[in-house]
Formats: sequence, C-alpha cells, structure tokens
Amino acid sequence: MSKITSSTLLKFKKEGKKFTSLTAYDASFANAFDSEGVDVLLVGDSMGMVLQGHSDTLPVSVDDIAYHTRCVSRGIERALLIADMPFMSYATPEQAMTNAAILMKAGANMVKIEGGHWLLETVTKLTERGIPVCAHLGLTPQSVHVFGGFKVQGRDTDNAQRILDEAKAIEAAGAQLLVVECIPATLAKTITEALTIPVIGIGAGSDTDGQILVMHDVLGISSGYIPRFSKNYLKQTGEIRSAIRAYIDEVAEGTFPSPEHTFS
Ligand code: KIV
Ligand code: NA
Repeated sequence: MSKITSSTLLKFKKEGKKFTSLTAYDASFANAFDSEGVDVLLVGDSMGMVLQGHSDTLPVSVDDIAYHTRCVSRGIERALLIADMPFMSYATPEQAMTNAAILMKAGANMVKIEGGHWLLETVTKLTERGIPVCAHLGLTPQSVHVFGGFKVQGRDTDNAQRILDEAKAIEAAGAQLLVVECIPATLAKTITEALTIPVIGIGAGSDTDGQILVMHDVLGISSGYIPRFSKNYLKQTGEIRSAIRAYIDEVAEGTFPSPEHTFS
C-alpha cells in the first residue's frame, strides 16, 4: 500500500481512474477512511460549520487547522493529506508562506487556497519553496459574503469563461491539484479536459477526475440540511465503513454524482 502523492493522482487522471476524497478532522475517522481506500483526505475549513457550529467558514484559525491536521496525520498511512488555509491566512504571499509552513509542519502534504488570478504569485512562491498547492475555484465559501450566499457559480458565459481562465492560469503558476465547487457540470468537464493537473469536484457533476464530500454529509449527521450535491451513504448501508466503500465504488463506476446531485 504505497502512499498517494500528486504523481499518483496525475497517473489516475491519465488512466481515467476516478478517485475519491473526503474531509476528515480526527485520527479515528481518518484511519477508517484511509484504510477503506479514500485517496485524498482534506482537513477542511468546513470544520467551522460541522465541528464548531458557525454558519460559515470565516472564524476558523490556522491553529484550528494545524491541530486537526496533526490529529488526522496520525491516523493515516496511504491517503494524500491536504490542509485548508483558512480565511485571511494567505491575504499576502508572505502570510501564505508563514501559515502554509505551519500546516506542512503539522503533517499536511499540500495546502488548499481559494481564489484565482489574485493568487498566482502566491501559488508560485509556495511551490518554489516546497509547498504543493491545491487551488479551489467556483463557489469558494470564504467569499460567501461577496457572493451574497452559497450560490452556484459560473452559470453565465462571462463567469464561466473567467473560471476557466483562472483554472488555466493557476495551473501555469504551479498548482498541482484543483477543487471546483458548485459549478455547472458542463463547465467542470471543460476545465477537467483543459487541464493537465487532476480536478476534484463537489457539486460539479461526474466528469471531474475525482470527487470530494464533507464526511458529515456522507454520514448524514450535518446539522440543518444536506446540500443537494451531497449524498447520505450511511442511510443505504447502515454502517460507516460500508458507507465509505459505497461512496468509493459509486465514484469509481461513475454513478455518483448522478443528475439529481448536479447543476446544469
Ligand atoms: O472545507 C471543505 O470541506 C472544503 C471541501 C468541501 C472542498 O473545502
Ligand atoms: Na474549505
């Protein structure tokens, strides 16, 4: 069981092998997800909502992410571990370098940052200094107050073109992975085909190279509502490990996400 790296994910993309990703925040769940075969684990700033009970991700700190990254890293052997850089922790390239270093030292293999053109210099600087970057485009939750709510992005032609341009630019700047969130399936397909690096989707249809979900949604224990693009796998399986295997299998077969989980 060899460790998943960015090269493994690149190989999966070339072979057309769909891979799975889940968020994780502690060693026990991370260990279960890792041993069932989830390829990528993300210590997401979604912890602000699912662990801390806030209504958005903005209150999460670098220390919060570092603590949970240490916990998760002790639980895993195989999965690639990505840590989210929280709101305003990468407002300048200098802040990004300082804070990304903290997360890498906590056990992350890669950091994730939300945004496009404004981050190009940051992506290059981090990568040059040995910190791999996963970019995040589309519905970037740290900008929820700019968007005026959690809304699907890239529905009109101008916005779709901007997201595609940003995806290409961020790859050229050195990003090794891209998450696209809540965009139309057709746009996600275009981006996935245009890029060499693997693209992971959430609410972005079934044509991306990989899928990611928030673990609390997969296990049906998110408070409030489960987003339309998510799926409760515990309900159909009744057991956590079986639920995770069902998610992995459906992504591999291309049956998740189905049209009911997808935006047009
Ligand atoms: O914080 C998070 O969980 C995320 C994923 C939903 C992509 O960024
Ligand atoms: Na996040």
